[in-house]
Amino acid sequence: MATPPHVYALAVAPINIALIKYWGKRGDRRLNLPAASSLSLTLHGEGEGETGTGVDDFLRPWEGEATSSLEYAGNGDGATAPPVQLLTITRVTLLPAESVADELWLNNERVPSLNERIRRVLHFVRSLRPLSPVRIQSINRFPTAAGLASSASGYAALAMALGELAGLSPLERCLAARLGSGSACRSMLGGFVKWVAGERADGADSLPHSSFGSDHWPELAVTVLLLEEGPKETGSGEGMERTVATSALFPARLRQIDASIERLQGAIRERDFALFAEIVMRDSNQFHASCLDSYPPLLYLSGRSLAVMRAIHRLNGQGPAPLAAYTFDAGPNAFLFYLRPHRGIVEAAVNPTGSIPLIRCKVGPGARLVTISGSAGGAAGAMTPLA
Ligand code: PMV
Repeated sequence: MATPPHVYALAVAPINIALIKYWGKRGDRRLNLPAASSLSLTLHGEGEGETGTGVDDFLRPWEGEATSSLEYAGNGDGATAPPVQLLTITRVTLLPAESVADELWLNNERVPSLNERIRRVLHFVRSLRPLSPVRIQSINRFPTAAGLASSASGYAALAMALGELAGLSPLERCLAARLGSGSACRSMLGGFVKWVAGERADGADSLPHSSFGSDHWPELAVTVLLLEEGPKETGSGEGMERTVATSALFPARLRQIDASIERLQGAIRERDFALFAEIVMRDSNQFHASCLDSYPPLLYLSGRSLAVMRAIHRLNGQGPAPLAAYTFDAGPNAFLFYLRPHRGIVEAAVNPTGSIPLIRCKVGPGARLVTISGSAGGAAGAMTPLA
């Protein structure tokens, strides 16, 4: 089969932050099937512009000729790159059919061999449709050394670009993203996303569903506090296995997680910040309690994370209703939620000297296709929410 030269798809995907955390797998662990459902919010850095056009400006130089570099080349008018952050940009190019192997470039460095998770995604796609060897080029737009780099945006962008080239359905693209990293399937959609655990052993019913769109609660804002540098001590896969095998608290968490999701969906539906704050903080605390209850313990929070938790409860205790909430994934960096008018007071409470680097975000859109073979896809490439 002869492949036309330079056939490629360019996709962009954001990270998401779990409000009710996914932790623990069921069945074949390579399929990333969760032991329970989870609920997240898709993040959009505020530097990216209100409409997301900042992202398009940033990507424009990468459209066209499929060279091996995704280095920012400027947009011709000497302007510096806009502060596009917390997302992954991925271009997948079809190589001639006679090519012997798939290629991977991460942040412009050639990676000698594909990791197992990327192989799994490619294998899944090829089990559905014929696909010649590909060159995958991926750029992570995260602040350097922030310990924030997320596999969620990476595998969502990969699934979107690969899915477009292979002609996969939206559903199949979500399954491909999930095989790379469980939480990546939630980054395929924007707004508030529920990843339904499903029951099938093959995972065909373990998919993300849109709970509320990205414009449902415009006042809700997020600040990410970059408290520590460096990668986490124990990766999520290993950490989950340890918790499932050793924590006596974990089964209790699983028993009430669906009720927490129901209550949180109610709070989001009513835009009830006080209820939202309580449920989100309690879930983060309960998740970290089961990590601490694992043996040997999983210690993802640092002393500075605990100081932020204390500062938020102190602030919330000063008035009749909570002004802020926190959540922490498997790492020390804090994700703070508040209503936009309270930004100043919340950030001052946790960062009084202004010395902690931060990223301000809002609820945003999910993964989207930017270009296919040189023709602009734009917003038309966004995933349609699954009902
Ligand atoms: O999808 P993974 O393997 O990166 O695991 C994600 C685990 C948490 O970030 C801690 C929770 C979540 O639901 O995102």
